[in-house]
Amino acid sequence: MYKSIREAVGQNFTIGIRISQAKVNDNTHKWTGKEQDTEIIFGQLGKAGLDFIHVSEYEAWKPAFDTSGPSLASLVKKYGKAPVIANGHLEVPKRAEEMIENGEADVITLGKGALANHDWVNKVKNGEPMADFNPEEVLSPNVKIKEFEL
Ligand SMILES: Cc1cc2nc3c(=O)[nH]c(=O)nc-3n(C[C@H](O)[C@H](O)[C@H](O)COP(=O)(O)O)c2cc1C
Repeated sequence: MYKSIREAVGQNFTIGIRISQAKVNDNTHKWTGKEQDTEIIFGQLGKAGLDFIHVSEYEAWKPAFDTSGPSLASLVKKYGKAPVIANGHLEVPKRAEEMIENGEADVITLGKGALANHDWVNKVKNGEPMADFNPEEVLSPNVKIKEFEL
C-alpha cells in the first residue's frame, strides 16, 4: 500500500501511518503477541519507508502490555526506526514533555485536550490553567441553554 501511495504522490510528499491497538468497538484491546507483535508490525512499517508512525493509546505513557514495560511509542522507536508521533491523554504538559525527553516520541499530538484548549501551546507557554474537555460544550452544539453558559 505504501509503495502505491509513494508512486502516486512522488518523493516530495510525507507519508505516515496512524495505528493503535484499541478498536472502535473495544478500546481496551491489546495485541495478543505483545512485544513480539510490535516487532513484526512496526518492523514491517519501518522497513516500508514510512516518514512517520503515529500510535494512539488511551494513556500514551503507560506500558503497552501488562502493568510494567515499555510504552507503545517506545516500541515504535525500538522496532519501527521511523519518527514517532504519540497520542493519548498527553494534554498535561509534563507528560508530553517526558515522552519527548525520554526519547519515546518525536512529536506528541492532542485530541480532546486541543478541542478544549485551542490555544494549548500558548497556555503551556504562559503557565495558564487548562480547561477540561466537556463533550456537551464541544461536540453537542444543540440549541438549548446549557448549565455552563449561564
Ligand atoms: C470528537 C473526536 C473525533 C475523533 N475522530 C477520530 C477519527 O476520525 N479518526 C481517528 O483516528 N481518531 C479519531 N479520534 C481519536 C483521537 O484522534 C485521539 O486518538 C483520541 O481522542 C485520544 O487522544 P486524546 O486523549 O488526546 O483525546 C477522535 C476523537 C474525538 C474526541
